[in-house]
Amino acid sequence: MRDEVVELGEPDVQQLMELEALCFEYHWTREQFLLGLEGGAYKVIGVRRDGALVGYMAFSLIADEMEVLNLAVHPDCRRQGLGEALLARCFEICAARGIAKSFLDVKVSNDPALALYRKFGYKKIGVRKKYYPDTREDALLFRYDFQQNEG
Ligand SMILES: CC(C)(COP(=O)(O)OP(=O)(O)OC[C@H]1O[C@@H](n2cnc3c(N)ncnc32)[C@H](O)[C@@H]1OP(=O)(O)O)[C@@H](O)C(=O)NCCC(=O)NCCS
Repeated sequence: MRDEVVELGEPDVQQLMELEALCFEYHWTREQFLLGLEGGAYKVIGVRRDGALVGYMAFSLIADEMEVLNLAVHPDCRRQGLGEALLARCFEICAARGIAKSFLDVKVSNDPALALYRKFGYKKIGVRKKYYPDTREDALLFRYDFQQNEG
């Protein structure tokens, strides 16, 4: 079994959409994916297991900030370190670019994601009430400071 973290591009859009459909109830459209894959509005990295796409992460890099837009691992491949591998690669890219801070939002009920982000050192900075249109759940806002954590 061979896992490989790679940067994804336009030819991966179909596989990305299929994977996303397994992982989320609320889906990005092809056009939303292409904004990142073709247009460069954000970056998408993926993890391939023996060639098959089993996880992906989308994040934006604007000025000195990184925002996590989406992160998901195939349901059959969870708890095997792949989410962590994706976030670790993203952090390497951030370090190389001198990114100072990162933000993300996550559903209050999403225990696996909350545990993963906390493991990486993200700290809760706020709550947005009834933020998500699909479930009307609250969003927890998290922040990570690269320099503070490296020093
Ligand atoms: C969140 C998600 C990406 C984690 O991916 P994963 O590959 O299973 O995570 P990893 O195996 O790399 O786990 C890394 C750490 O995250 C935490 N974690 C992951 N899944 C967890 C779970 N089910 N329960 C508790 N902690 C969990 C743990 O701290 C874990 O470290 P450990 O194994 O040393 O305890 C995955 O559960 C997923 O795709 N969920 C659905 C999509 C989603 O909600 N994405 C987040 C949107 S903000």
